[in-house]
Amino acid sequence: MKKIIIANWKMNPFSAKEAEYILNGVKKTAAKLKKTQTVICPPFIYFNNLRKIIGKSTILFLGAQNSFWEIEGAFTGEVSPEMIKNSGGSYVILGHSERRALGESDEMVSKKTLVCLKTGLKTVVCIGEKVRDEQGDYLAFLKNEIRNSLNKVQKRFLRNLIIAYEPIWAIGKKDAEAMLPADIHETVIYIKKVLSEIYGQESALAVPILYGGSVGGKNAGEIIKDGGVNGLLVGHQSLKPENFNEILRSVENI
Ligand code: 13P
Repeated sequence: MKKIIIANWKMNPFSAKEAEYILNGVKKTAAKLKKTQTVICPPFIYFNNLRKIIGKSTILFLGAQNSFWEIEGAFTGEVSPEMIKNSGGSYVILGHSERRALGESDEMVSKKTLVCLKTGLKTVVCIGEKVRDEQGDYLAFLKNEIRNSLNKVQKRFLRNLIIAYEPIWAIGKKDAEAMLPADIHETVIYIKKVLSEIYGQESALAVPILYGGSVGGKNAGEIIKDGGVNGLLVGHQSLKPENFNEILRSVENI
């Protein structure tokens, strides 16, 4: 299985010109990789410009940062999975902690997840605890969040599901403050166990698990090597082409 490195640009950059600059700075490196696929998730408004730069690549893809749970209709301000697909998107990130903080519930994430999977998008469902407590309450939190966010998703739709584990306390910091690979590995095993309880071991173990939270060039390689993950979700370091390229190269060279 190829490693999956996803750039979550969040609400950046300010202009289409800058968006094109970042992608052009990444494209050459990403296109050369054999074992690593790259997904760029910009704000919707830049999709068309960036789609033209990506072209028909089989190693570099476009993804959305959100989707609605209906296909079309009177839903002002929303964008549907069908629109994402028809605009060149093949991935979608759902339930990011920054969206959950704005009021997105597990129930909403679950509805979105089902419709995106049915549309054929590679669907990245984000989970992650706010804090790590000594009593291990975060484990119960994670279990509930996984169960509820996938509540509507039956086993037959799992093929395109990806889980991104992003502990909220580790987001937006320096590389050195990311979660330690050994701790990531332990949590990944737990996530697989919870998925196995829902879908059975064979199906659950086929679901790729990514890590996100302060990933940079210094820690990307060791998180992949020792963290037991199939890829990474990268925030602020994905906005600087040279930093993001360093991440891509270090993952490719493992
Ligand atoms: P940072 O890489 O900026 O910590 O963001 C992580 C994230 O939220 C990616 O979705």
